[in-house]
Amino acid sequence: MSYQNLLITDAVAVRTVTLNRPDKLNALNSATMLELRHAFAEIKADAQVRVVVLTGSGTKAFVAGADIAEFSGLAPIDAREFSLIGQRTFREIETLGKPVLAAVNGFCLGGGMELAMACSLRIAADTAKFGQPEVNLGIIPGFGGTQRLPRLVGRSAALELCLTGMNINAERAHQLGIVSRVIAAAELTAEVNKLAVQLAGMAPLALRGVLDAVIYGEDLPLDQGLDYESQTFGLLTSTEDMKEGAKAFLEKRKAIFIGR
Ligand code: COA
Repeated sequence: MSYQNLLITDAVAVRTVTLNRPDKLNALNSATMLELRHAFAEIKADAQVRVVVLTGSGTKAFVAGADIAEFSGLAPIDAREFSLIGQRTFREIETLGKPVLAAVNGFCLGGGMELAMACSLRIAADTAKFGQPEVNLGIIPGFGGTQRLPRLVGRSAALELCLTGMNINAERAHQLGIVSRVIAAAELTAEVNKLAVQLAGMAPLALRGVLDAVIYGEDLPLDQGLDYESQTFGLLTSTEDMKEGAKAFLEKRKAIFIGR
């Protein structure tokens, strides 16, 4: 499929999806949301793609939010649908079963922050700005922000961000645990690509096991989460990649993982 609002590039097993509405700071309108959904469905079905990098075009923004011009004119029932479509799309990204790295290259506000939080890891340029400014528009986050942010940073910091609508810089986002690394803006792409290539060389089923155990286990009582972990651990010992990993270790060479 050809996309109007996304750029798609492939390098070995890494697919880069770039949100591409730079004149609107990559704001998420419903057309872009549908394209994102389609792009991630393609990624899910394509075993050649092992890792995804998600970023924004231009130097100013990752995503500056949901498209205010579009949703401000919606009737309540349609606005709820807009929220549901965003929530579902982001959940599909979160549960993709492959690492999705958000390369946050600028404003990461509102729906942009919610999109980044649905990714497996967030790596920020030192120039990036984060926030949930929806209250300034008389609304609340509608693409999962009120649910994912407290899980990521705890209730106190989540309420501070969502109640005040304040922006924070990349360093503060790092302190709060929203981003795992802060990189000089000029080096962001190279550093994220390096990590993506590293992950693309690892055992895909093991990475999926980690993602599933953390994401699905997060809201389970501890005993059920531990049970899920042990089931996944047991299942993975049946894979060819597990045998290859052990064999390569003993033969003192780099393992070649095939995802089976
Ligand atoms: N929805 C729709 N359009 C948006 C947008 C959004 N969330 N964020 C930015 N844009 C558009 C602007 O309307 C402007 O379009 P125009 O040139 O046709 O007028 C263009 O992107 C550039 O934005 P601008 O505001 O001129 O850039 P800036 O550098 O002065 O300010 C921001 C940058 C991010 C501080 C400012 O754009 C902003 O506050 N955006 C909204 C953030 C927000 O509230 N997001 C949550 C939405 S729920």
